[in-house]
Amino acid sequence: MSDQVNVPADAAASGGLQAIVEPLLAWYDRHRRILPWREQPTAYRVWVSEIMLQQTRVEAVKPYYEQFMRALPDVETLACADEETLLKLWEGLGYYNRVRNLQKAARQIMEVHGGRIPDTYEQLLSLSGIGSYTAGAVASIAYGKPYPAVDGNVLRVLARIRKDERLISEQKVKQAVERELQDVMPDGRPGDFNQAMMEIGACVCTPSGAPDCGSCPLADLCLAHRDGVETAYPKKASGKARAVEQKTVLVIRDEDRVALRRRPAQGLLAGMYEFPWLEGHCTQEEVADYLNRIGIKAIRILPLQDAKHIFTHKEWHMKGYGIQTDELEPRARSAETQDWIYIRSEETRHKYPIPTAFAAYTQLLKIKLGKENWKEEQE
Ligand code: ADE
Repeated sequence: MSDQVNVPADAAASGGLQAIVEPLLAWYDRHRRILPWREQPTAYRVWVSEIMLQQTRVEAVKPYYEQFMRALPDVETLACADEETLLKLWEGLGYYNRVRNLQKAARQIMEVHGGRIPDTYEQLLSLSGIGSYTAGAVASIAYGKPYPAVDGNVLRVLARIRKDERLISEQKVKQAVERELQDVMPDGRPGDFNQAMMEIGACVCTPSGAPDCGSCPLADLCLAHRDGVETAYPKKASGKARAVEQKTVLVIRDEDRVALRRRPAQGLLAGMYEFPWLEGHCTQEEVADYLNRIGIKAIRILPLQDAKHIFTHKEWHMKGYGIQTDELEPRARSAETQDWIYIRSEETRHKYPIPTAFAAYTQLLKIKLGKENWKEEQE
């Protein structure tokens, strides 16, 4: 449905962003989605939702959000949660530093702010994991303060409206857009304005495929739409290719347990659990040699499906093997296996967070495997 207004296209482009405010708010009043964090938008609820939404779609976030709120309903419970609970609540959302920072900030709030989430933009910015976007979102949505919340959605919408040639991946461009929006934040409804911008970006002026300009309240203001070049904006930097890492993932099991190991406490997927893996793509013989070397007697070694996982700066290209053994724990401890743990399949689901990067292989653990099942599943 279109709520278009007749404002000359140049009005928004010439820096006059004021022209977008009214049609945007009117559209939001009619088309806003009902979302759990929009009910009772307390600072805690807004903050947690915005952190979850930073790299994840609304539909994917919803169940995680509800579960997180039930388990950790306030700053204090979040500050006190043990790491495993925290990672488990986040398992599948990815970008796990988000939840570590969430807890760090909760502890800062307990120690420095007496347990109350601060209501000034500057104090919000001083908390772990809170940058200008989240500070703006919490300040405006929960506390009604006139700060913009500029994320990729907002940058895309404005780049199209203004046929803005600047690269939105650059920090200085984001900061400039924040300053430009600061001047037009509506006093009475800053939180709605910010959410309306995000909503237009997520539902109408979408990043992939053609945007739904017929439903856009800003179409008459939009220079990219006027010239039929919506998808040419925002401009993209010629990207650097991600580093590709090849791995061989080993799902080593006996009747009812699987071998896992904990990742290092720092860095990518810190502290989570993973299947042991080897560098490079190994042949069945190389895997057999390795197992011999570490003292695991394999009854059989079967190739599993290949899998790929894309992180921000790297890609894992994985080859997998399922290894069946009668004795999961090597008799002689070696440096290689000293930190391995042997876990029943059900426990991996409740207690030991395994990153989504291994999803192709964790699927295998859903079934409690006896030998027959193993055969059925693999052969
Ligand atoms: N994406 C990020 N924050 C959002 C919010 N508050 N509502 C809808 N989509 C969002």
